[in-house]
Amino acid sequence: MTESTVDRRTVLAASGVAAVGVATVLAGCTNGAAPAGSDSATPIATLTDIEVGASRNYRVNGTDLVITRLDDSSVAAFDATCTHEGCLTGPRNGVILCDCHGGEFDTHTGEALAGPVSEPLASIPVVVRDGNIFFA
Ligand code: FES
Repeated sequence: MTESTVDRRTVLAASGVAAVGVATVLAGCTNGAAPAGSDSATPIATLTDIEVGASRNYRVNGTDLVITRLDDSSVAAFDATCTHEGCLTGPRNGVILCDCHGGEFDTHTGEALAGPVSEPLASIPVVVRDGNIFFA
């Protein structure tokens, strides 16, 4: 019979590697990026396209987004890909809804609210300049 010996330093080093890996994955889940091929000079939409408090779907370079107008001058944008199994989501009845399994997300934060979803929608960095919405 062989005996395995693992000292405390080996365990701590291994857990540190695991912790870094988890942090990287979480960052990737919560921080989306502008779609490939998009730029920060071409507007995604005009601010007045979306009423204050409302949300709309947009498709940019093959990436589906949900943009919510938070107030007179700011918006929040999310990757519209459901974090459960990847279906398209969209605003309906005051939430961002996924028709596949009924997952619901908050229109202002992208947080998972109901259904089988547990991870928020990835936020997409955008800015409002001169009444237009651009990728940041
Ligand atoms: S894929 Fe969206 S709830 Fe299942």
